Amino acid sequence: MDYKIAVIKGDGIGPSIVDQAMLALEKVGEIYGHKFEFQEVLAGGASIDAYGKPLTQETIDVCKASDSVLLGAVGGPKWDSQPSDNRPERALLGLRKELGLFANLRPAMMFDELKDACPLKPEIVEGGFDIMIVRELIGGIYFGERGKKETENGPAAYDVEQYSEGEVKRIAKVAFDLAMQRNKKVTSIDKANVLDSSRLWRATVEEVAKEYPEVELNHFYVDNAAMQIVRNPKQFDVILTSNLFGDILSDEASQVTGSIGMLPSASLGDGGFGMYEPIHGSAPDIAGMDIANPMATILSAAMMIRSSFGLTSEADAIENAVKKVLADGVRTGDIAKPGEKTVGTVECGRLIVEAIQ
Ligand code: IPM
Ligand code: MG
Repeated sequence: MDYKIAVIKGDGIGPSIVDQAMLALEKVGEIYGHKFEFQEVLAGGASIDAYGKPLTQETIDVCKASDSVLLGAVGGPKWDSQPSDNRPERALLGLRKELGLFANLRPAMMFDELKDACPLKPEIVEGGFDIMIVRELIGGIYFGERGKKETENGPAAYDVEQYSEGEVKRIAKVAFDLAMQRNKKVTSIDKANVLDSSRLWRATVEEVAKEYPEVELNHFYVDNAAMQIVRNPKQFDVILTSNLFGDILSDEASQVTGSIGMLPSASLGDGGFGMYEPIHGSAPDIAGMDIANPMATILSAAMMIRSSFGLTSEADAIENAVKKVLADGVRTGDIAKPGEKTVGTVECGRLIVEAIQ
């Protein structure tokens, strides 16, 4: 089969890690007889430099005409002085909205080989944990009504959190469907003790749950959830939450794994289309030094061919290659223990490509 992949290498370490993911895809294509056709487009800081804005219509059009999108990471201090609506991050929000990517899947799991890097006490994470965060991505306060007004205390600004039943149903179904393929548990996270939008969220999730009698559903307030993630991460299977809460909790959960350089993510729309990217950022401080860990991006490519293209054995082949090099002791600086030998980005990618079979 032929697959068209729009590639946004992005800023900072983005280009170097995406290059390794493309090599991994090419290798898998050679072995299994697929052709991955890459079309590179700009977004984020690189697009500001080239066109004066973080996202162009051309980039959107190329992404829409592709089978999926592979993204490195965008942003960096170079663009800090841009006005807020022209910052590199705007490209992400624009792509999500324009491409209808309403479901953000962020796995947070511990790799056994890297369990020493987990910041929690060993007895808390004994046996490892594997959480799938399902974050609503194109609604809520990120995209709600916003504005400025005068008040008796001076100028004020506001952003509105609003969710419709339709939006909540759509994302809840994604979470319950995933739970059915996993440990059949959904924890929905809201702030229903204070917010009306959360009360509607909770009631709607309970309605959707009726269609999934096998799935156990519980609800946490977001403050409690933040605490539970460090107290007992093993209690979670699928976490379902809003755009804003998901933004915050997914950073927390990924850090708790100790393996943030290892975690992929997917932003999905209807019909299997998706944008795949590592959870970590563009790390401008180490850009160009050939030390970034390409594994999260390579695993994002695996997630892409599994979820969007249905290529199960091919995705397994990439994931197994990453596991194999980890087991062989291959480490980039971010996951190495003090004194352990490290490899650079290119060498790490080469070893993974070599291990794909
Ligand atoms: C993320 C990021 C983005 C978000 C920013 C860069 C707009 O933090 O993907 O989690 O808030 O969604
Ligand atoms: Mg975030």
